[in-house]
Amino acid sequence: MDQQPNDPKNQDQKPSGDEPILMPHEYDGIQEFDQKLPNWWLWTFYITVIFFAVFWVLYYQVGSGATDDEKMENELDRIARIEAERLERELGVLSDAKLWEASRNTAFVEEGRKQFMETCAVCHGRDLSATNDGIKLSGVPLNDSEWLYGSDPMNVLNIVTNGSPDKTKGMQAWEPVLGKTRVTKVVAFVLSHHEMPEGMGEGAAAEGEASDAAAEEAAPAADPA
Ligand code: HEC
Repeated sequence: MDQQPNDPKNQDQKPSGDEPILMPHEYDGIQEFDQKLPNWWLWTFYITVIFFAVFWVLYYQVGSGATDDEKMENELDRIARIEAERLERELGVLSDAKLWEASRNTAFVEEGRKQFMETCAVCHGRDLSATNDGIKLSGVPLNDSEWLYGSDPMNVLNIVTNGSPDKTKGMQAWEPVLGKTRVTKVVAFVLSHHEMPEGMGEGAAAEGEASDAAAEEAAPAADPA
């Protein structure tokens, strides 16, 4: 270091423009120049700070913008809706396997849930227990393993579509009121409260007859009257 901070020569250089100024302090023999930071660096820094402040307010305080969990849920919802649309297009040929598959699709089941609350909950209860606040309703529970007319999804669908064979019991045919699509959705919602037998659901529906046979085997006593 041949320049000395307190050297008057050095002081003279100060106003001469772009020359960096040597700071007067010295630590362990190390001196530093008083350099202005380049503009590009400063602006990058300022913008980063401003971005953070805006981001912090919007994301953490206002709560706008999706969290990672929300993003994932949205994506899963989107996939479920696409699947639900496909299921809806394929309602023409229903089977136990296809109904089980529908009962595992959150978007499809959600629509069924709304319909159920609107149409069926008065008799079967909002939680499918056929009670409301401990008071027995006129329907039968749909969340237990006892089925009057068969436990196979197609049996359940049949009762909802055509009503109880015993018309005095109060379970009417719902297909004339709701149409096939909404009946299927509401049945999917009911089935979503039940455990799906192995080998059903995704992919099984495509196997058609084989899976129907498997379902028959799984519940041999379930033949409707
Ligand atoms: C007015 C009351 C009432 C309404 C509304 C009603 N149900 Fe029922 N439901 C009954 C009764 C009562 C039975 C029993 C019928 C019998 O014993 O034959 C029954 C039976 C059933 C069964 C057969 C249960 C089994 O054990 O096999 C299913 C499934 C069912 N209802 C679903 C539905 C769905 C889905 C809706 C809405 C679309 C609905 N019900 C609306 C009264 C009702």
